[in-house]
Amino acid sequence: MLLRKSPSLEATIRSSEITPQHVFEEHQHSRRRFLTSAATLGAAALAARTIPSLINPPTTVQAAEQLKTISSKYTLDDPQTPLAKASTYNNFYEYGTDKSDPSHEAYRLQTRPWPVQITGMVKKPQTINIDDLLSYRPLESRVYRFRCVEAWSMIIPWDGYSLSEFINFCQPLPSAKYIQFFSYNNRKVMPYEPSSYDWPYREGLRMDEAMNPLTLLTFGCYGQVLPNQNGAPVRVIVPWKYGFKSAKAIVRFHFTDKQPATTWNEADGDEYGFYSNVNPNFDNARWSQAHERRLDSSLLPRNIPTQMFNGYGDQVASLYTGMDLKKFY
Ligand code: MTE
Repeated sequence: MLLRKSPSLEATIRSSEITPQHVFEEHQHSRRRFLTSAATLGAAALAARTIPSLINPPTTVQAAEQLKTISSKYTLDDPQTPLAKASTYNNFYEYGTDKSDPSHEAYRLQTRPWPVQITGMVKKPQTINIDDLLSYRPLESRVYRFRCVEAWSMIIPWDGYSLSEFINFCQPLPSAKYIQFFSYNNRKVMPYEPSSYDWPYREGLRMDEAMNPLTLLTFGCYGQVLPNQNGAPVRVIVPWKYGFKSAKAIVRFHFTDKQPATTWNEADGDEYGFYSNVNPNFDNARWSQAHERRLDSSLLPRNIPTQMFNGYGDQVASLYTGMDLKKFY
């Protein structure tokens, strides 16, 4: 992720400048009130197109609708990362390579209508709309560790349902061994997309990884629809892998019998393996993966020991029995 040298958010923004939660929540409330009255006037869509800076002020979080979710067994005792941090410190290179770029730029993404394609080795290729996908199963709130290959981590409550439920709906053929995710790509709304990468952003999983109950088809976080910068309207979250496996703003699910090409693996296969399971015993070419920095609104050192499979080994280690994880990293 660090192909380009740029100052980190911590280096450029003091913790005192990060919006405190109560201010953020007040902002959310007033913005929701604004949107409700604008909608009454039939003006919300027009406003969103013409004065984005008014309704998406830089460095604040996009307002979002509340999602109806049910609780789940996936909880953690660790304190959750404030939403204000999780939605202003992002990797979404289609909107720029600095951590703060996506929260300033991703308002350009229009998430409705949002056709979702199901292609490749399935009984019936088809296109469905995002609202059908969203309402296909009850949304669970799941608190997961999220570990980036850059050695920072967050604790985030995501909202979604197991990707396996959707895969069953897709009816893949027995010959399908992998699933590939394609993110949305449109230069018009992603003007800062670096030309040095091959777009659209692509990721992939082996079918048994994708079917693991932990793999989450994700529509929200913190009980609200995903902020655009976090991958609206739909992304995957694969909590035992480095964050780049969790593709954002997905428009196509492709089933194939071959290990699919993925963006970071193509950009630098030595550094970013196809599997990219969190592994404290296997360092990145440029830095140690043994410890991580837990992001919140303060500047913590990289002092937390990273756990094998990000702490989800009891649920996923069996997927890799007999595999040399240093060869298949
Ligand atoms: N998906 C797309 N389409 N484009 C991206 O640049 N970045 C990845 C992943 N998914 C990325 C993406 C990386 S490197 C990480 S660490 C996570 O998204 C970051 O997710 P977050 O911004 O919600 O923390």
